[in-house]
Amino acid sequence: MDIIEQFKKQLTGIDLTPESEEIGEVVEVKDNVAKVSGLRGVGNFELVEFEGADTLGLVLNLEEHEVGVAILGSDEKIREGIIVKRTKRVFSLPVGEALLGRVVDPLGRPIDGKGEIKTKTYLPLERKGPSVIERQPVNTPLHTGIKTIDALIPIGRGQRELIIGDRGLGKTAIAIDTIINQKNEKNRPICVYVACGQKKSKVQRLVSTLEKAGAMEYTIVVCAFPDDPASFVYLAPFTGATMGEYFRDKGQDALAVYDDITRQAWAWREISLILRRPPGREAYPGDVFYLHSRLLERAARLSEEKGGGSLTALPIIETQAGDVSGYIPTNVISITDGQIFLDAIPFKKEQKPAINIGTSVSRVGSTAQMKATKKVSGRLKLDLAQFQELERFSEFTEELDSQTKLTIEKGKRMRLMLRQTDLFPLSIEREVVVLYACVNGKIEEIPMERIANFEEDLLKEIEISCPEVFKSIQETRDLSEDATNKIAEAIRKIKISYGIKGSQK
Ligand SMILES: Nc1ncnc2c1ncn2[C@@H]1O[C@H](COP(=O)(O)OP(=O)(O)O)[C@@H](O)[C@H]1O
Ligand SMILES: [Mg+2]
Repeated sequence: MDIIEQFKKQLTGIDLTPESEEIGEVVEVKDNVAKVSGLRGVGNFELVEFEGADTLGLVLNLEEHEVGVAILGSDEKIREGIIVKRTKRVFSLPVGEALLGRVVDPLGRPIDGKGEIKTKTYLPLERKGPSVIERQPVNTPLHTGIKTIDALIPIGRGQRELIIGDRGLGKTAIAIDTIINQKNEKNRPICVYVACGQKKSKVQRLVSTLEKAGAMEYTIVVCAFPDDPASFVYLAPFTGATMGEYFRDKGQDALAVYDDITRQAWAWREISLILRRPPGREAYPGDVFYLHSRLLERAARLSEEKGGGSLTALPIIETQAGDVSGYIPTNVISITDGQIFLDAIPFKKEQKPAINIGTSVSRVGSTAQMKATKKVSGRLKLDLAQFQELERFSEFTEELDSQTKLTIEKGKRMRLMLRQTDLFPLSIEREVVVLYACVNGKIEEIPMERIANFEEDLLKEIEISCPEVFKSIQETRDLSEDATNKIAEAIRKIKISYGIKGSQK
């Protein structure tokens, strides 16, 4: 097989080329993007051949007389006047279990040096999101292992939750922790992490982190680096979605992280400007909203008739100086079912993960929360809100009544207990225990300097004296009276060991 035939098979999974007589001509070529005239019947995402070049092109933009073509390789041999031939094949990607543990480029080719990916299953890159009839409401939680999120901004399987914030505030960390935490889950979703326009060194570090955590065995990593052609960065999130959909359509759960789609929008802007499409707001093409909506529409919880699988999407957006009112952030906020805002102020105060609890929301996830989490998180939300109000108010006055003081002292400790280092996601039964202690454990009695150790001490105590508490939360997904009593007893024991008076029965 010659190079081009091999490449075609790689991009479509099909051996035979239908004879095609439809030909066109390159009008212009620049930065791996070509304008081609004469291909009248060609469709979007169809592959085309360039005469005399050993690479294929991908049709990205249809206009009346010309089409835009992304060159999927070197554009060296492609010049004005070269003949272009239709292949009548849609760009498809290798999908399936063989991809687990692998690192691939947006064309599905391995870049981890671990050899060929053996799969016979291919799915087209661009697929429509499921219709309303093919869906059902989100009804199962996707636990991130991050206390703040699972308690206050819960995510459901099939949901689209945006992670948004400036550079370096822990957006990627949340996504990686979520992937690692799936190890703790019974019905573990397959994870797809799309590194979209991120530095190679960063991605390498991230893959080795996932490997060390034992998370690569259920994860696929798709990479488009900043020095790849813009079309690769543009394609990468769609590639990830297709790979996740394979599992969704099999009735399994999958999670796709798009890190980040700001860069995908930049890539689409670059391609569009090269094609001289009319620039709109912030120089983005008019269809940039459609770019992200059709990507995120593919996340869904499918109906039982369709197998009941799900694809959860965690798109990431990087903002500048906390500005969420830009064109791309507002677009994506309107497309998703909620957003997790990361804030520089708590990050500087070491309050990490630096999630802004006031502005972060999850519009569908709380219906999917398990009973045990619901029982502890309702109060937590109220208590925290009340505390934040009072704390602001108390800055201006010294005379506080004892009840107010108590609320503030409790709130300060709650905030400390919600701190969580990255790479340490907690399994859900542990989270429930810690959150229970936050709300019902009279933590205001514990000195501030002891709070940092309290979580660890409590979890250890339960592990040793009543591990059945964890088991019962795991199995019943609820917090029984018996378990509640045992947690309360463990808290009492720890307080005694801290020398806190009044903890005796
Ligand atoms: N919860 C956390 N606790 C401690 N450090 C954190 C936490 N979350 C993120 N970090 C650290 O902050 C830095 C930036 O995080 P990263 O996720 O790469 O940010 P972003 O993706 O928003 O640019 C990293 O060094 C990371 O380890
Ligand atoms: Mg990041």
